[in-house]
Amino acid sequence: MKILEKFSAVATIAGFSFYACAFGLLGVLPWFMTNRVAPIKGGLDFDAVFLPKTVPVDFRDKYKTLAEYKAAIDFGRKNYIAEACWHCHTQYVRPVGNEVARYGPVSENWEYQNEMNLPQLFGTRRVGPDLTREWNKHNIDWHFAHFRNPQDVVPESVMPRYDWFYDDKGKPNDRGWAITAYVMWLGSWRRNEAPPATPH
Ligand code: HEC
Repeated sequence: MKILEKFSAVATIAGFSFYACAFGLLGVLPWFMTNRVAPIKGGLDFDAVFLPKTVPVDFRDKYKTLAEYKAAIDFGRKNYIAEACWHCHTQYVRPVGNEVARYGPVSENWEYQNEMNLPQLFGTRRVGPDLTREWNKHNIDWHFAHFRNPQDVVPESVMPRYDWFYDDKGKPNDRGWAITAYVMWLGSWRRNEAPPATPH
């Protein structure tokens, strides 16, 4: 009996300790890291690195100024989070396999530890391809067609359609433009480097 009591006391204390540990690691630490660690800004020419110097040609009719274009990227990112695109897509080129040939250089900290990419959307599952270097893969019309109905452009695709990115006449609405601006911006900060050896 004594031994049992001793054991249950140890088990109870261990249980609470593990709970506290998990709470700290999974609850407090990520909050601390995303909210408290200063994003890298100083030292990088922020607008020149993370935004083109002018609104890209494809978006000039829609966004007149760089500030409008940046607001659209932010809104697109919010939609990316809200629609759980991260459930099927990663945003991190890993140092394994042949990722470098497929997606380009392994992701570096300045690319994700910055104002425009916090909280990071690394993701874990790759039902679809990694999107970190999406900027140079497809043109704007491809994206508009793809979000409307992925199977129209990639017949075997399992990506869902996003009808609510379009108005009644089938034209992209603000969300459709913003999510497209966002995915076409991803990785553009490496636009001066040679693209990956093989397309994905
Ligand atoms: C159920 C999983 C799933 C979800 C959710 C999903 N996708 Fe996809 N996505 C895929 C698959 C699979 C592909 C590859 C086939 C294709 O191109 O449709 C893909 C392809 C893409 C591509 C083209 C990639 C390339 O380089 O060819 C983009 C861009 C994209 N998805 C963006 C998004 C965005 C933005 C969202 C959220 C609004 C989203 N996806 C949600 C599965 C998904």
